[in-house]
Amino acid sequence: MPLNDLKSVPSGNSASSKQPLRVALFGFGTVGSSVARILVESQPEGLRWTHVFNRNVARKRSDWAPADIVWSEDADEVLASDADVIIELAGGLDPAGTWVRRALEAGKSVVTANKKLIAYHGVELERLAAEKGGHLKYGAAVAGGIPVIPGLEQGLAGDHIRRIEGILNGTCNFILSRMEEGADYATVLKEAQAKGYAEADPTEDVGGFDARAKLSILMRLALRVIVDPDEIIPQSITSVSAMDFSYARDLGCTIRQVARAEEKGGELAATVGPMLVDNNSPLAWSRGTENMVIFNGRYGGDVVFSGHGAGGHPTAVAVVSDLLALAHGSRRVEIPSVPAKIGVEFEVPHYIRFLVNDRPGIVAEITSALAREKINIRAIVQKPGFPANALPFVVTVEPCRSSALERALTSIATMDCLLERPLNLQILE
Ligand SMILES: NC(=O)c1ccc[n+]([C@@H]2O[C@H](COP(=O)([O-])OP(=O)(O)OC[C@H]3O[C@@H](n4cnc5c(N)ncnc54)[C@H](OP(=O)(O)O)[C@@H]3O)[C@@H](O)[C@H]2O)c1
Repeated sequence: MPLNDLKSVPSGNSASSKQPLRVALFGFGTVGSSVARILVESQPEGLRWTHVFNRNVARKRSDWAPADIVWSEDADEVLASDADVIIELAGGLDPAGTWVRRALEAGKSVVTANKKLIAYHGVELERLAAEKGGHLKYGAAVAGGIPVIPGLEQGLAGDHIRRIEGILNGTCNFILSRMEEGADYATVLKEAQAKGYAEADPTEDVGGFDARAKLSILMRLALRVIVDPDEIIPQSITSVSAMDFSYARDLGCTIRQVARAEEKGGELAATVGPMLVDNNSPLAWSRGTENMVIFNGRYGGDVVFSGHGAGGHPTAVAVVSDLLALAHGSRRVEIPSVPAKIGVEFEVPHYIRFLVNDRPGIVAEITSALAREKINIRAIVQKPGFPANALPFVVTVEPCRSSALERALTSIATMDCLLERPLNLQILE
C-alpha cells in the first residue's frame, strides 16, 4: 500500500491543553484496578482519574483511591458525566459494546483492552469515533503489555507486512510450556485456574477463540484486511498429550499454540492451533504466560515482539500508555483496510500421531491412504516400551494442505485398529 495512504488525525486533546484528561473506569477487576493503581502511584501528567463504574460497586472501593473518586453502579450517570475518556475494562461484546458506542456517540474517547469487541466491531467503532471527533484506542487488546499495536501503527507503518506468526494466548502458552516440562494437561489446567491465568470455563483460551480474535485484529493492522474472525477455524490444544511432547522432542521441536496469517499473491491464509515449532525458533523460547509476535515485512524482514501478554499490571501499562498518547495529543494513524476472505490454506509439513491396537499391515494402509491424496511421508517414528494393544507412533509428512490430509485421515479413521482419531498438528518451518 502506498505510504501516502496513511492518514494522521490529531487527537482532541493536545499537549498544550491546560486541563488534564478526566478518565472514567468501566470495570474495576484485574486490569481496571491495576490501571487505577498506576494512575494513583505514578500520577502520570495530563490524566485525572474521576469515576469508577462497576456493578455492586461498594465492594470495589479501595482505601488507596483518592477520596473524590465517584464510585457508581449507574452506567448512564458516568456516561453523562464530564469524563473525557471512558476506559472500558469489563470485557465481552455486551453491554461493553453499548457503553463504548454511547461514549463515542457523545464525542468522548474510549480506551479498551477488549479484543472480542475490537475483533468483531472495531471497524464500525473506529468509524464512529472518527465521525464524532473522539478516539478509540486498544493497544492492550493484543498481547497485553507488549506494544504490538503501537509498534504496527508507528514503527512498522513504513513496511509492507506479509506474514504474522504469534503466541497470542498466555493461558495456552502457560499450559503447553508446563506440559513440555512433564506436567499433564488436567493438572496444569487446574494450576492455571488456581493462579488466575485460566477461567473456570477455559474454552475461549484452549479452544483458540481468544487467539483468533487477536489474530484478526493484527491482520487488519498488519495485512490491512478485514476478516470475520469466525472464518478462522481454530484447533483446540486439549488433544495434545505428554506423549506428543516426547515425540516432538525427538523431532527437535516443541509444541506451542500459534496464530499465523499470511498474504501471498493476493490470497490470504490464517490458522490458529497447537503446532510443532523448531527448538531454534523464537516461538519455542516463550514460556509461561509470555506472548510473542513475529512480523515479516517485505522491506524490514522479521521483527519480534515479546513480553508479558497478560496479567493486570502489564495490561494496565498498555492502557495507561494509550491514555497518555491521548493526553499528549498524539496523532492517530488511520490504516486503510479492505474486507477480505481467507481463500487458501498453508501448505506445511504435518505431524500425525496414531494410537493403535497393533496388527500387520497398518503402515501400508496408512501410506496408501496418504498416497491417494498425493501426500508424501517424511518420517515414521516409533518409540519402544509401549504395549502392542495401545501402541503410539508418529508419521510426519511433507508440505500439504490440511484439507487433503483431513480427507486422508477420515479414510484412515475407519481402520479397525485405531483406538482414537489421529492427532494432526502443523509443523511450523
Ligand atoms: N486479565 C488480563 O490479563 C487481560 C489481558 C488482556 C486483556 N484483557 C481484557 O481486559 C478486560 C478486563 O479483563 P479483566 O481480566 O480485568 O476482567 P475482570 O477481572 O473480570 O474484571 C471485569 C470487571 O468488570 C465488571 N463487570 C463485568 N461485566 C459487568 C457488567 N455487565 N456491569 C458492571 N460491571 C461489570 C466486573 O465486575 P464483577 O467483579 O462483579 O465481575 C469486574 O469488576 C477484558 O476485555 C479482557 O479480555 C485482560
